[in-house]
Amino acid sequence: MNVLLGVSGGIAAYKTPDLVRRLRDAGHDVRTILTTNATRFVSPLSIAAVSAHGVITDQWGDPSRGGVDHVELARWADVLLIAPATANTIAKLATGIADDALSTYAVAHRGRVILAPAMNSFMLDHVTVRHNLRILEDRGIEVIEPDTGLLACGDEGRGRLPDPEVIIARLQSRNVVGRDLEGIRILITAGPTREAIDPVRYMTNRSSGRMGYALAEAASRRGASVILVSGPVEIAPPVDVRVERVTSASEMRDAVIALAPEQDAVIMAAAVADFTPEVVSGSKIKKDAHERFSIDFVKAPDIVSELAALKPRPGVVVAFAAETNDLENNAKSKLAAKGVDLVVGNDVSRTDIGFDSPDNEVVIVGRDGDLTRLGKASKREIAHAILDQTRALLNQRRTPSREEHTVG
Ligand code: PMT
Repeated sequence: MNVLLGVSGGIAAYKTPDLVRRLRDAGHDVRTILTTNATRFVSPLSIAAVSAHGVITDQWGDPSRGGVDHVELARWADVLLIAPATANTIAKLATGIADDALSTYAVAHRGRVILAPAMNSFMLDHVTVRHNLRILEDRGIEVIEPDTGLLACGDEGRGRLPDPEVIIARLQSRNVVGRDLEGIRILITAGPTREAIDPVRYMTNRSSGRMGYALAEAASRRGASVILVSGPVEIAPPVDVRVERVTSASEMRDAVIALAPEQDAVIMAAAVADFTPEVVSGSKIKKDAHERFSIDFVKAPDIVSELAALKPRPGVVVAFAAETNDLENNAKSKLAAKGVDLVVGNDVSRTDIGFDSPDNEVVIVGRDGDLTRLGKASKREIAHAILDQTRALLNQRRTPSREEHTVG
């Protein structure tokens, strides 16, 4: 493949000579454009040495040789890969600004574009950056999810440039997310609930909301109209998603039951309390008044069971099963007990998946006994796989049976 590598000015630019070398090892021809800021982090000479081509750093090129021919370059390149893609370059691409060699080339390029954003998590989560990425993804530009780990600034978080193998695997796959959920309405729940004990104390759980938010973001990117009913979490809501914020299990129940009849599918990723204090003290429980005290808990509303029994009911209802042992059998039992169409089981005793982790590993159980095991992957990838199965069920239900076709 002819790969035009665009390098913009982030610290991760220093990794690009290795990326170029590995791209060439994988059989690709690589030409490179560096922004002026990228040249602060990596020398054009080191990239030229490994790519066996000159490196473009100036929009105007060498006037004595006729400058840079963007159109000729665009004819040559099969793919424009920008790694690392900084907030500035992402913004230029989203708005069509063409004021340097890379952004000018991007406007001339007609083929596939892949971005590998890399920056500090605060920047990555900024509404402008997320909005610009969303604009680009809606145009069909592929965005490789940044890695999580130690960042150049010393912070821990999301924003690292993925390893060259991940970037090259994406380049070599043609697995582009399409808008196959257009016209579908999906309600997704996310996060924990908080069950009040008194005005200052509550009972909750370790859910961060990441799984549900990943589902909402993925569904929205695929064109679905998404409502996210969210418990209290600290992550920013996805763009173009209606968010209904709730606190307790009973508030989540009211929101879900009110909105569900109009939905094609509901996915319950929230970690809803199973029990709630029977009596909530109206004033702060004073420690001096008790040597010990106990709280009576009663069952919280079982939202997903109520939802599955609604008439009319959403076409597809998906429950999660948070288990610490015997995952598959417990997921199968929940499918039957709750009357849902799919159950996504995950092991919440592990620290590398499940609660408050960027990754998950799940088993998806269907009514027909089908069982899909998904190895450890980002919650975003798991979300897409769950949506694939949800969409397949919706399609089955929308396809009229043979009897319905028979007339007279
Ligand atoms: O939020 P993260 O940090 O990303 O973590 C993700 C997750 C671990 C929370 C998620 O993947 C998950 O497993 N969510 C379901 C958690 C849960 O409550 O599981 P459960 O097995 O206790 O409940 C089964 C199903 O019934 C779930 O779909 C749940 O939403 C639903 N439920 C539970 C209790 C209740 N009162 N009403 C419900 O509808």
